[in-house]
Amino acid sequence: MSYAQVYGQWRQDPEGFWLAAAGGIDWIKPPTRALDDSRAPLYEWFTDAEVNTCWNAVDRHVIAGRGKQPAIIHDSPVTGTKHVITYAELQDRVSRLAGALKARGIQKGDRVIIYMPMVPEALEAMLACARLGAIHSVVFGGFAAHELAVRIDDCTPKAIIAASCGIEPNRTVHYKPLLDAAIDQASHKPDFCVIFQREQEVAKLTPGRDLDWHAFQHGVAPADCTPVPGNHPAYILYTSGTTGAPKGVVRPTAGHLVALNWTMRAIYNVGAGDVFWAASDVGWVVGHSYICYGPLIAGCTTVVYEGKPVGTPDAATFWRVINEHKVRSFFTAPTALRAIKRDDPDGKLVPPLPTLQALFLAGERADPDTIHWAQTHLKVPVIDHWWQTETGYAIAANPLGIEHLPVKIGSPSVPMPGFDVQVLDEGGHPVSPGTLGAIAIRLPLPPGTLPTLWNAEDRFRKSYLTHFPGYYETGDAGYVDADGYLYIMARTDDVINVAGHRLSTGAMEEVLASHKDVAECAVIGVADELKGQSPLGFLCLNKGCNRPHDEVVKECVQLVRDQIGPVADFKRAVVVDRLPKTRSGKILRGTMVKIADGQPWKMPATIDDPAILDEIAQALQSLGLARG
Ligand code: COA
Ligand code: AMP
Repeated sequence: MSYAQVYGQWRQDPEGFWLAAAGGIDWIKPPTRALDDSRAPLYEWFTDAEVNTCWNAVDRHVIAGRGKQPAIIHDSPVTGTKHVITYAELQDRVSRLAGALKARGIQKGDRVIIYMPMVPEALEAMLACARLGAIHSVVFGGFAAHELAVRIDDCTPKAIIAASCGIEPNRTVHYKPLLDAAIDQASHKPDFCVIFQREQEVAKLTPGRDLDWHAFQHGVAPADCTPVPGNHPAYILYTSGTTGAPKGVVRPTAGHLVALNWTMRAIYNVGAGDVFWAASDVGWVVGHSYICYGPLIAGCTTVVYEGKPVGTPDAATFWRVINEHKVRSFFTAPTALRAIKRDDPDGKLVPPLPTLQALFLAGERADPDTIHWAQTHLKVPVIDHWWQTETGYAIAANPLGIEHLPVKIGSPSVPMPGFDVQVLDEGGHPVSPGTLGAIAIRLPLPPGTLPTLWNAEDRFRKSYLTHFPGYYETGDAGYVDADGYLYIMARTDDVINVAGHRLSTGAMEEVLASHKDVAECAVIGVADELKGQSPLGFLCLNKGCNRPHDEVVKECVQLVRDQIGPVADFKRAVVVDRLPKTRSGKILRGTMVKIADGQPWKMPATIDDPAILDEIAQALQSLGLARG
């Protein structure tokens, strides 16, 4: 069947389409119907089913005779180690870990925070939660204690599972002191913490609260899979919104299983026995969907890579992993390829890649140069696809397993079944092809996408459903061409994308505003050759503050690192007298971005004092920016 036929089939009978896809999942009680629209515009899928995610990702493959097949390959150039875990071993390890959590009181519906680097134990912790019906929330290691504390208070976990340390090429990340500080800062306290001690650093355990990963599993009975309803939250994953408070995206169990399983064949063209590698981190949605759940649900072997695209040890490391582990489909962020291309512009380090069928890119806009470089040197289809934490899988892609459509560089191709994508004007009316507008998806969203935000249904409605009634507002702007290909051009909110990481400028502004000398501030994302965007702060100091500007800037940079974390990559700020604003007081961030990037810009009609823009341009020039 062609893409057009499959998409048409979904359009004709969406519920029938997803019920058919549900056939790829082992149910304890199969769904009798697909969509539950009784609370529209809040929708749920497969609510009357009963199922267990861990069963589908692990146990069923052992029963099907795949026990000896590698489930996880851990390849860690930063520790110089590699090891393989088979499906049978994974079943044993996960059921024991789940048994130990259960013995300590973890039950269906309890929250568990996971704060771990790229080790197989992170996936095992996720799967052990899923086995018990506990709801995990994985927090990325690059966040500071404060961000962890915010998440602890929002999802009130009964337990936290952490590693003693993570390893960045330039330093050891001391997870345990970060965890301790976060628990101190949070109002909610977990009943207990489980610490996975790594060889590279053995952390000091807090008596009465911390348990050793191995010791606490000793002698416990392994746990079986707990049935959960189809709409039971599988996990909460926090992502950046416009304000400092992160949004807790809820992932529903059954839809997640059905949709991810469908994407593995339809989009990535892999199945049981194939090796799939997503070079991301379990702390991001890509890591949830395509390092952990997707490949395991489909019976693939997943690669857990603990390293960087360059410097661990060089720009050939990705190609070594692909060839050594016989990777068939590979997924990474454009920024990783840009880092490789910078070190190896002529592709001299790229060997023949006989097992690789395609490269998939997502997380940020894939620029044409990067795509051309990859096409030329990897000699496989390079497929850009567009998605968000909220959806959990691709909204638009080139579905290799259905039909490899012609690639249009700069476009993540076409909408996937389940997504009726529309480009709207401010009034919510669809615009004609080629016209830029807000990208929205007609409700209901398909299975597996967010039904709500954790503890924040009002925020969910306000953030996504209110602006364009009847639609989900993606927060992205772009256009559709005459062939129905989508082009994602920019965000419509204050979210920026740094090295494929989604960050909130609002959150950074909240931190900067807390500095005692800062009266007012603004953060914008300026174009960055390697990372796509890079945050830049403008600081207006309090009257009477005579301190050297570079001293204040340095403290502000450190403050963001301490409060949000190194992942914010906030390294540049400049002191200015005033910020450009509209007459109603709105900071003209969009105009500042254009000036910084040396793009053509128009004087906003509503500007309060045009002279301020000259001052801003001068400040930017002092940083080597604003050179059009
Ligand atoms: N734990 C702790 N700190 C982390 C971290 C983690 N898991 N990941 C990144 N950091 C830190 C880095 O050490 C760095 O700290 P520094 O300021 O002390 O140098 C900071 O966060 C910024 O990291 P990063 O944005 O990764 O920049 P980099 O300069 O270290 O590396 C790239 C540049 C392009 C190689 C890197 O960004 C990369 O691999 N990007 C791909 C991202 C990706 O796969 N995203 C997934 C989305 S699909
Ligand atoms: P995240 O929720 O972290 O996955 O970030 C989602 C956001 O990243 C999207 O809303 C887009 O702004 C951006 N994004 C992801 N994939 C793409 C892509 N292929 N092309 C353009 N932007 C993308």
